[in-house]
Amino acid sequence: MRHFLCINDCNVDELNELLILSADLKKLYKSGKRDLCLSGKVLAMLFEKTSLRTRISFEVAMFDLGGYGMYLKPDDIGIIGQREPARDMARVLSRYIDGIMARTFSHETIVEFTQYATVPVINALSDWSHPCQAMADMLTIREHFGKLEGLKLAYIGDGNNVARSLAFACGKLGLKFVVASPEGYELDDTAIAAANESTPGTAEQINDPAKAVVDADVIYTDTWVSMGQETEKQQRIRDFQGYQVNADLLSKAPKHVKVMHCLPAYREMEITDEVAESDCSIIFDQAENRLHFQRALLKKLLS
Ligand code: CP
Ligand code: NVA
Repeated sequence: MRHFLCINDCNVDELNELLILSADLKKLYKSGKRDLCLSGKVLAMLFEKTSLRTRISFEVAMFDLGGYGMYLKPDDIGIIGQREPARDMARVLSRYIDGIMARTFSHETIVEFTQYATVPVINALSDWSHPCQAMADMLTIREHFGKLEGLKLAYIGDGNNVARSLAFACGKLGLKFVVASPEGYELDDTAIAAANESTPGTAEQINDPAKAVVDADVIYTDTWVSMGQETEKQQRIRDFQGYQVNADLLSKAPKHVKVMHCLPAYREMEITDEVAESDCSIIFDQAENRLHFQRALLKKLLS
């Protein structure tokens, strides 16, 4: 494993190893000890879009492991590819630092980084996927249920970057994945097929949220308007009516169901405040686990 671009590029052993290492490092840090395996190492953190969780958890993770995370936003380095090509940036950065993480509008930009960088590259969200989020989510689900295999995750809403990475993660790790989206906003067939290739019969795209949550162990949602889609906001709000995660939808799911959201959450849009603040909600455990997963990822790739 050289880069972390897409969950589907990893094998099951690598993913499980990362989950075990995340749990071990979480325990270590909770006990007040530190693992300084990245002493003297520097991670360039390139952001074309805003971020709370990803930026801070990566920066803290680098600090915790004895290294340094250098936050670089468009004001500093320009939009990637505009001031200079991504392939030049990748080669220049590789001469200075030990790893690159990037949050970009276009997934192709990160792919280009992986082709030209001579240091590990981490996908910190693109328009196509959000693998660090999905792996932190798997860690969270495993903590709450004590296992992953055989559980059912129902994703309600936009067939977007987060949904795609969850489909890949569920396929690899043996969870059933049902995504319910309005017509025109479904997850692409290729993503569903890829998940089903990992575990046959795992993934299914439907349009009915009530059907999706039957037998679900986890209900997951994300914003209806991802970063970069702001001009479509009004249309999307109209099109996603009926896809809100609310008390009515929860009443159709088993009593033990947990509710997840990668955050930021737009209350009374894709999720009600009532549900986000309820005992079913594990959204802040998810947010915390970004830190624990990324420590493990950085240790594996950079040390
Ligand atoms: N979930 C997530 O990636 O949050 P940020 O956009 O704040 O990093
Ligand atoms: N789908 C959202 C996720 C934010 C963490 C976006 O891309 O904006």
